[in-house]
Amino acid sequence: INKVTVETLKKMKATENKISVLTAYDYTTATLIDQAGIDAILVGDSAANVMAGYETTLPITLDQMIYHAQCVGRGIEKALLIVDLPFGTYQSDARQAYHSAVRIMKETSASAIKIEGGIEIKESVKAIVNAGIPVMGHLGLTPQSINQLGSFKLRAKEKQEAEKLISDALLLEELGCFSIVLEKIPSQLGEEVSKLLSIPTIGIGAGNKTDGQVLVIHDLLGLNPHFKPKFARQYATLHEQITNAVSCYVKDVKEETFPNQNESF
Ligand code: KIV
Ligand code: NA
Repeated sequence: INKVTVETLKKMKATENKISVLTAYDYTTATLIDQAGIDAILVGDSAANVMAGYETTLPITLDQMIYHAQCVGRGIEKALLIVDLPFGTYQSDARQAYHSAVRIMKETSASAIKIEGGIEIKESVKAIVNAGIPVMGHLGLTPQSINQLGSFKLRAKEKQEAEKLISDALLLEELGCFSIVLEKIPSQLGEEVSKLLSIPTIGIGAGNKTDGQVLVIHDLLGLNPHFKPKFARQYATLHEQITNAVSCYVKDVKEETFPNQNESF
């Protein structure tokens, strides 16, 4: 098996092959999506939401991200493993960012890290790249800044914010990022940024002209009936199957039809 590398992703853009990315947080899911042919797996800090049940991504710690990344790493044979640096582990200065990224690289089998922001985190990006660690940027809706943004609405609708996003994207490319996630921005801007950059853009709610797409695996599988964002496509409604399976089990236990003779010793 040919492992996917950051160079593979760059070549995919150059040859106009779209890049598929999904999140995962555990071994079993990682095994399944790796075998199904995903190009890259992101251990997102969305683990704070879908694994831990928090409202925002802010509470998750570096230790917790490392635990999830270790679990996912054991399930991967082929896909590129990218891990989010969580809130508060890279924004203050370059040294802090360097030490956080080095912990991810030493303690997990990750090949890259992802951080949110543009010019504000310039020194952090530089320090991590200079350490030989591939960095994925993340612009547009950056959930770690939710308290500043005020809502999870579409970003960069207005000219000023769109222009800043473009200059941030160019800066991240210049600093040596290997790819950039574009979250929840107008399709036209997603297309424009993707054309401007030579590194691949990975979109989520950024239209179909980015160089790749990323989704949270829970959204694709339909695990949460109460969360159906416009940008996600539900390829399954597993919440129904899981609820149904569990209620059948409960009924069978109550009625003593489980276990039956074949299931007993
Ligand atoms: O944490 C996450 O899942 C992400 C993706 C949505 C890009 O950052
Ligand atoms: Na994230």
